Amino acid sequence: MNLAQPDLLADAGAHSATLVLALEHPGPDGVRVAAGVRAVAEEVAALDPSAWLGCTVAFGAHLFGAADIGPAPDGLRAFEPVAGATRSAPATGGDLLFHVHADRRDLVFELLLRIRARFQATARVLEEVHGFTYLDSRDLTGFIDGTENPGPEDRAGAALVSGGDHAGGSFVLVQRYVHDLAGWSALAVGDQERAIGRTKPDSQELADDVRPADSHISRVVIEEDGEELEIWRKSFPYGTTGELGLLFIAYARSLAIFDAMLARIFGTDETDETDGSGVHDRLMDFSRPVSGAYFFAPSQARLAALA
Ligand code: HEM
Repeated sequence: MNLAQPDLLADAGAHSATLVLALEHPGPDGVRVAAGVRAVAEEVAALDPSAWLGCTVAFGAHLFGAADIGPAPDGLRAFEPVAGATRSAPATGGDLLFHVHADRRDLVFELLLRIRARFQATARVLEEVHGFTYLDSRDLTGFIDGTENPGPEDRAGAALVSGGDHAGGSFVLVQRYVHDLAGWSALAVGDQERAIGRTKPDSQELADDVRPADSHISRVVIEEDGEELEIWRKSFPYGTTGELGLLFIAYARSLAIFDAMLARIFGTDETDETDGSGVHDRLMDFSRPVSGAYFFAPSQARLAALA
């Protein structure tokens, strides 16, 4: 049985947004109001059911201690900066995450306005990012993003905690990346393909003997006990023609999976047998994270109980 919040495993529509808030007084009141946002999302969704408005609500690790919402899920902690020898990722924190998507941009906006109104005096915005589906689901680098995402039948297994008190909940990683599109565009397409590890027109994986160890795919494909570690990615392009990039957002059944991928992307994985020398993801030469936080999205029933 899938116990997750209703929109967590759904495909995002053409428009997405994330809102990260810091509560002035992290505690039960903020948690209750945040949990109540699910009902607000249903009101906005009812304005046009054909737009498939979705909203997932998630909490920062420290709220589990401060807000009496029960013991924290195993392994949940605040995001910590990842500092490799040459590339790094900052931690920017946050108490509450709202992840909203729909096929109508105005409805995404409407829900965010209503969320903000509920927290007008009690929270400040740490980050608000509005984005869109670009062409045939491409990142702004021009590469298809999502090819190896788990299909509908496999998403629950990848994204949801499977047992115990937090069954149906999900760990969330959010990072805003800013692309150096001019630098990237100056690369020959073959070099771009070797940086990603896939072909540009149709996202075919490069053969093992031509795919470099520092390609994005070589970094994030990790096997443990013969099984590939999986996450459910719902990232989206955002920005203006001045500053643009990818809002990376993904859900996983364990936080350790994100830690493992980030360690290989930023070259901090000491057990990395391919190099052991702190090699970083070639993509990070053309994109840099400017924010980063971990959250936990409780199951539907737990969230309803908190409201
Ligand atoms: C600038 C940021 C990023 C960009 C532009 C980007 C782009 C891409 C692209 C184009 C693919 C290949 C197509 C696909 O399978 O989706 C991909 C795959 C993937 N990415 Fe990223 N990505 C970024 C950051 C990350 C981060 C931070 C993580 C993990 C923490 C990650 C995890 C993955 C995984 C697990 C895959 C699938 C690998 C496979 O099974 O083949 N990516 N990404």
